[in-house]
Amino acid sequence: MKTSNFFELKKPSAFTLAAFESLDSTNDELRRRAINGADAYSVVCALEQTKGRGRRGRTWVSQSGNLFCSILMKPRVPIAEASKSSFVSALAIHDAIQEAVQGFDCDVACKWPNDVLIDGYKVSGILLETQAQPKSIEPDWLIIGIGINLAHSPADTPYPSGYINAYRDQVIKAPEMLEILLRHFQVWWERWETLGFQAIRNAWLDRAKGVGEEIIVNLSTECISGIFESLDHDGALVLRTTEGQRHITAGDVFFK
Ligand code: BTN
Repeated sequence: MKTSNFFELKKPSAFTLAAFESLDSTNDELRRRAINGADAYSVVCALEQTKGRGRRGRTWVSQSGNLFCSILMKPRVPIAEASKSSFVSALAIHDAIQEAVQGFDCDVACKWPNDVLIDGYKVSGILLETQAQPKSIEPDWLIIGIGINLAHSPADTPYPSGYINAYRDQVIKAPEMLEILLRHFQVWWERWETLGFQAIRNAWLDRAKGVGEEIIVNLSTECISGIFESLDHDGALVLRTTEGQRHITAGDVFFK
């Protein structure tokens, strides 16, 4: 595939796109561009990444065939509020993937904090990165890095992982998936701006796997189990354990 295929896509006009054959990481390239003054709604994508990064310091395997992209946004809100954009993005990815597998018998769901699953297999992840001036409560910018497995999924992940083309008759390639994704991203971003996080939280809970069920959460220091009760107003996972309720801000969820 060629990067020129990306420029044929019918992306919503708000976005400007830079496409590369290969990058270290689309997040790193977008950060370099942000430092040089790139505008909000700048998008970087690459056919492959040599240093793809995931959450919690993990590597994101980034061989050609999957979608790797990053979106630059500059919301004028405090950093804690801006970080909730990961749920906005997860909803966009969820609905984009739902559209891509429409008519096929499979279940698309969000997994806390911001993965998207098909039939319980992780097919997408988000890496959110922000920068702020030392005394500023607002970020200068945030970078939303999105990986969607289209053609293959990595082996040896701590969670089951899958890819979208396993659920389709015809293969979907990265430019088409990006077009669908940006369309949904714009819709959810505008909903967040007009309706606030409560609407995002409700929509995310409607699409989330495991709500009301027993789950295990792996924190960096301990593993705890309990009932996944809800998402709080800051985006933390509300877990009912035998010792009481806990609001968890970072961790990996495992379903029983
Ligand atoms: C996760 O661990 O689930 C997050 C994975 C995020 C991967 C994407 S691929 C595009 C962007 N560039 C990166 O280096 N990481 C993100």
